[in-house]
Amino acid sequence: MRIAMVGAGYVGLVSGACFAEFGVDVCILDTDATKIEALRAGRIPIYEPGLDALVQENARDGRLRFTTDLAEAVEGADAVFLAVGTPSRRGDGHADLSFVFAAAEQVARAARGPLVLVTKSTVPVGTGRRVQEIVRAARPDLSIEVASNPEFLREGSAIGDFMRPDRVVIGTMEGEGGERAMTVLRRLYRPLNLIEVPILATRIETAELIKYAANAFLATKITFINEIADLCERVGADVHDVARGMGLDGRIGRKFLHAGPGFGGSCFPKDTLALARTAQDAGAPVRLVETTIAVNEARKASMAERVIAACGGSVAGKTIAVLGLTFKPETDDMRDAASLVVVPRLAEAGAQIRAFDPAGMGHAKPMLPGSVQYATSALDAATGADALVLLTEWNEFRALSPQRLRQAMRGHVLLDLRNVYDPEAMRAAGFHYASIGRP
Ligand code: UDX
Repeated sequence: MRIAMVGAGYVGLVSGACFAEFGVDVCILDTDATKIEALRAGRIPIYEPGLDALVQENARDGRLRFTTDLAEAVEGADAVFLAVGTPSRRGDGHADLSFVFAAAEQVARAARGPLVLVTKSTVPVGTGRRVQEIVRAARPDLSIEVASNPEFLREGSAIGDFMRPDRVVIGTMEGEGGERAMTVLRRLYRPLNLIEVPILATRIETAELIKYAANAFLATKITFINEIADLCERVGADVHDVARGMGLDGRIGRKFLHAGPGFGGSCFPKDTLALARTAQDAGAPVRLVETTIAVNEARKASMAERVIAACGGSVAGKTIAVLGLTFKPETDDMRDAASLVVVPRLAEAGAQIRAFDPAGMGHAKPMLPGSVQYATSALDAATGADALVLLTEWNEFRALSPQRLRQAMRGHVLLDLRNVYDPEAMRAAGFHYASIGRP
C-alpha cells in the first residue's frame, strides 16, 4: 500500500515513519524545503527517542520518502493523511483549521484517482464533514472519501504508542464510500491485528470527539489530583498514597494521577480549550472541562508564589536554580510548559534564574526572559544558588546526589514540584525540602 503524509511535524513524522515500518510505502510532504532537505539527509528536526533510527532505516530501505512536491506525494496513494497544525486561534480558543482546509483542497486538486483523505490532526467535531464538502467542490469528478483517524501519541514515547496502541479509532462517513475508506484504513493497520489491538470503527463525528474527550478526561484527572494534593498539604495526608489508593481501584486506574505544577504540552491545553468552545457553540457546555482549564492556569501561576514563599517571602536578589524547562521529560517541547509561567514571574520578582534542561534550552531561550542564565548541567545550575526548583522530572535529575547538590548551593531551599525525591533523604542532606501534597 502507498500513503502520503501531509505535514512533517511531530505527528506526521512519527506516523509516517511507523507506517513505513509496517511495510507501507510512505511519502511525507512539507512546504518547508529546508526541513525536507534535512530529513533527506537523515537529520530529524524534533527530539523523539528512536525516531532518527526509524526514519533513517526506512528511508534507506526505500519505504520512506520526503518531498515538497504535492503531486509527487499524492501520486498512486491509497490514502493521504493530513497531519498539519491546528493551533488555538488567537482570541477565541477555537482550533484554527485554515491549514487543514487548505491542505485538503490542494490534495483534492492534485489527486489523479480515488483516494481516502484522513485527518490525523486533532480537529473539532464536524471538521470531517466540512473537509468532505471542500473536497467534493474541488473535485466533483473523483471519489475522495474523508475519514478521521486521531492520534494518541505521547511525546517521548510516541513510537511505542503508535506500534502498541491501546486502540485505533477510525471514523468514516455513512454509505458505500465510508465502507471503502474503512477497508483501506483497516488494511493499513493490519499489523496491529497480530497483537490484538482493538480497532474502533465509528461515525466520523464520534471519532473526532473521542480524541477530545480522552484528552479532556486525562487533563481533568491530573487537575483533580493536583487539587487533592493541595488539600493533602493542609490536612497532613500524602498525595502519593492517596493516588495509589485511588488508582488501585480498576475503575479509576493508576495512570495520570501524578500531582505536579499543572499540565502543559502541545495537546492538553489546546484541546481542552477547543472542546470547551465547541461545546459552548453546540449549546452543551462542558463545565467540568472549563473548570479544569481555569484551575490549571491558576496552578502554574501559583507555583511561582510557592517558590517565593519557600524563600521566606521574597526572591529579590536571590539566585534560583531551575531544573527542567520542557513541559515533560524526553522532549524538547516548551509548549505551555509550567516554566513559561514560573520563570518569568520569579525573574519579575527580582530573582536571578540559572536554568538547566537536558534538551529544551535551545527552544526555551527565545521564550524566557533575557536575564535567565543557562547552565551546562544540573550541578552547574545549583552552584551558588539560594534555592533549587525542580520543574520537569528528567531521569538524570533523579540520580543527583543530595549531598553534592547541597554542597554546591549557597542556600538550602529545595522545591520539588514533581515529587521526585525522597523527603527524608533530602532533609538528611540538610535541605529545607518541600514537594507537592506530601507532609
Ligand atoms: C498527550 C496525550 O497523553 C496523548 O494521548 C495525546 O495524543 C497528546 O497529548 P503529551 O502531551 O505528549 O500527550 O504528554 P502527556 O504525557 O500526556 O503529559 C501531558 C502533561 O500532563 C505534561 O505536562 C505532564 O507533565 C502532565 N502530567 C501527566 C501530570 O502532571 N501528571 C500526570 O499524572 C500525567
